[in-house]
Amino acid sequence: MNNKTKVIITAIICTGVFLYFENNHIVTTQINVKSSKLPDAFDGYRIIHLSDLHNKRFGRKQEALVRKIKDARPDIIVITGDLIDSRHFDAEASLELIRQIVNSAPVYYVTGNHEMRSGQLETFVNALKETGVHVLQNAYDRISRDGDWIYIMGIDDPFVSQERFMEVGIAKREIERMVNETQENDGFKILLAHRPDMFPLYSEYGFDLIFSGHAHGGQIRLPFIGGLFAPNQGFFPRYTSGKYKLWNSVMVVSRGLGNSLFPQRLFNRPEIVVLTLSKGNQCACE
Ligand SMILES: [Fe+2]
Repeated sequence: MNNKTKVIITAIICTGVFLYFENNHIVTTQINVKSSKLPDAFDGYRIIHLSDLHNKRFGRKQEALVRKIKDARPDIIVITGDLIDSRHFDAEASLELIRQIVNSAPVYYVTGNHEMRSGQLETFVNALKETGVHVLQNAYDRISRDGDWIYIMGIDDPFVSQERFMEVGIAKREIERMVNETQENDGFKILLAHRPDMFPLYSEYGFDLIFSGHAHGGQIRLPFIGGLFAPNQGFFPRYTSGKYKLWNSVMVVSRGLGNSLFPQRLFNRPEIVVLTLSKGNQCACE
C-alpha cells in the first residue's frame, strides 16, 4: 500500500467517525426561563424537552440518553412530535425509549406531521397512552404543585392529508377554544406545538412558554449564521434552536434527536433540553 492510499483510507475512516459522532453523540442544553406570572410553587420547576426522534435507535448510546434524562431529575418531560418517521414506520423505537423514561416523570406528548400522515396515528397514540404518556391532542391538563397550578396545552400538528397540507385554521380554532375554556384567571400557560414557524400565532394567544421542534436545528449549522434549512421555513430559517421571545411569550425550539429525509446532521448534534422555570422578569435579550 503506497502513502497516497494510506492517506485516502485514513481520511475516509476519520470522516466516517466524525459523521457518526455528529449523529449519535447527544448534548444536553440548559435553558432558563423567568416569568413574573409563574406561581411560587413552580419556582425551580424542571422540564425536559425531547423532539423529533424519527425512529432513531441510539444503540449503546441509548443508555447514556436515558441516564441524562434521569440525572436531570425532571418534574415533567415534554415531547413535541415526530417520534416516528412516516417514510419507514417503526413504533417500537420510540416506545422502547418511552418505557425507559416514563417512570422518571409525567410525560406529555403532541403529534408531529409524521404521526399525522403515517396512517397509523390512532394505533400509535393508543400505544403511547398504554405506556402512561399524557397525549395532548387539542387538549389540556392542569398541573398542580403545593396548592399552585399551571396549564399545559397541546395541539395536533396541522397536517391533515396530502391534499390539504396545512390546516392552520384548525390549530387556530383549537387554541382559541382551549384558551377560552381556561381563561377564568390569568394562569401560567404552556403550549406544546410541533411547528415553530407558527410562533406569532401562539404568541397572539398569550402563551407564556411554548415548546416546539420540527426544524432539526436547520440540519446543518453554519458558524455565525445558524441552521441551513428547515421544513416550512426554507433556507436560513428563523426558528431552529434555543429560546425566542415575542411579546409576552417565550418559545423553546429543540434541535431534536433524529433525522428524516436528509440522514446526516452537521455541527448540530442530537439534543435534549433541560429547562428550568424561575420567578422574575424575562429579559428580551436572554
Ligand atoms: Fe416535523
